Amino acid sequence: MSLVLASDAQKAARDAVTHAAWGSPLSVAQYQEREARLRAHPWSREAMSTWLWVGGDGAVLASCETFRTDSFLRGEDGRYAQGDSYAIASVFTETALRGRGYATRLMDAVALELERVAPRPHAVVLFSDVGAPLYRRSGYVEVPAWDWHLDASPEPGGRAVDGGLQETDVARTLGRMRRPGVPFHLWPSASQVDWHLERERIYAELLERPRPQTCGAVVGASTALWTMMARYGELVVLMLDARDASDAQALLGEARRVAHRAGLKRVVWWEEAATAPLLAGVPGAVRAPRDGSLPMLRPLRPGLPPAPEVPFPRALWV
Ligand SMILES: CC(C)(COP(=O)(O)OP(=O)(O)OC[C@H]1O[C@@H](n2cnc3c(N)ncnc32)[C@H](O)[C@@H]1OP(=O)(O)O)[C@@H](O)C(=O)NCCC(=O)NCCS
Repeated sequence: MSLVLASDAQKAARDAVTHAAWGSPLSVAQYQEREARLRAHPWSREAMSTWLWVGGDGAVLASCETFRTDSFLRGEDGRYAQGDSYAIASVFTETALRGRGYATRLMDAVALELERVAPRPHAVVLFSDVGAPLYRRSGYVEVPAWDWHLDASPEPGGRAVDGGLQETDVARTLGRMRRPGVPFHLWPSASQVDWHLERERIYAELLERPRPQTCGAVVGASTALWTMMARYGELVVLMLDARDASDAQALLGEARRVAHRAGLKRVVWWEEAATAPLLAGVPGAVRAPRDGSLPMLRPLRPGLPPAPEVPFPRALWV
């Protein structure tokens, strides 16, 4: 058995089988279109690889994708060194082949390969929908995950924001956001954030529903970026840099309004330790254990802090 990078034909063949896991409510043809469009996105072209675990006869036993993401590790001099981290997505074994250790071997082989090829290896992360045990076997450590939910509302009250953001504002917006002051963090590129908006565009078209009027908002020095998860009727906050509780309330109030206008049910923000205390005072914000998407991290080098000290904004999800 060996690890190989998938050819374009193998990627397309994989779409036909992974539809069973991630296709709903799209038809197979719509899902294939979704995958082709996502793979054609600039971030995917630059950062994505599709890996196959293949048997001696060439049959595909398991597959996954990796996306390279910039990460930053603080050195003893207090300065951050930029490095290469990877987010793993779409780990898949066909039903008839499950329970034989193929996914585990694939995960082990991919991490070893990334350790070998990464110019400045930092870490591999993933967002597990099947709990922690499977990935713990391959050296991943989970990060307890909580979400904050707020109902969509036409009139949530509170301060108005200074303005909404459009997709052409993303690069400038990321530039004004404060980075987490922690020893290690991953930080998305503008292209990576746009990949989330590309998902929004694809689902809006395929499910024939309106897109939110904005992809974020600013108030004072504070900023939020968000995207629609049409399948779940949610507006998810990709990044939140709120300088105080009043700004957090204003930004999330705007998100609730935008969600309501787009016909969505609620706003979801992935809790990050630094910002969570600001949410506690936001009226109507409810904290809940996350269902799925459990962040997990495997270092690719010594010297990284423990996984629970690493922030995981929703923008890092793949
Ligand atoms: C999850 C998946 C990739 C595992 O593939 P696999 O080749 O059978 O994995 P392995 O044989 O290496 O490991 C199997 C282990 O995964 C566990 N597992 C599989 N699916 C699981 C699930 N939905 N919830 C919890 N654990 C699960 C099995 O219980 C098994 O544990 P055991 O060995 O202690 O019995 C496969 O079940 C799959 O493709 N599922 C659908 C897509 C999916 O959910 N992918 C994961 C996204 S994070």
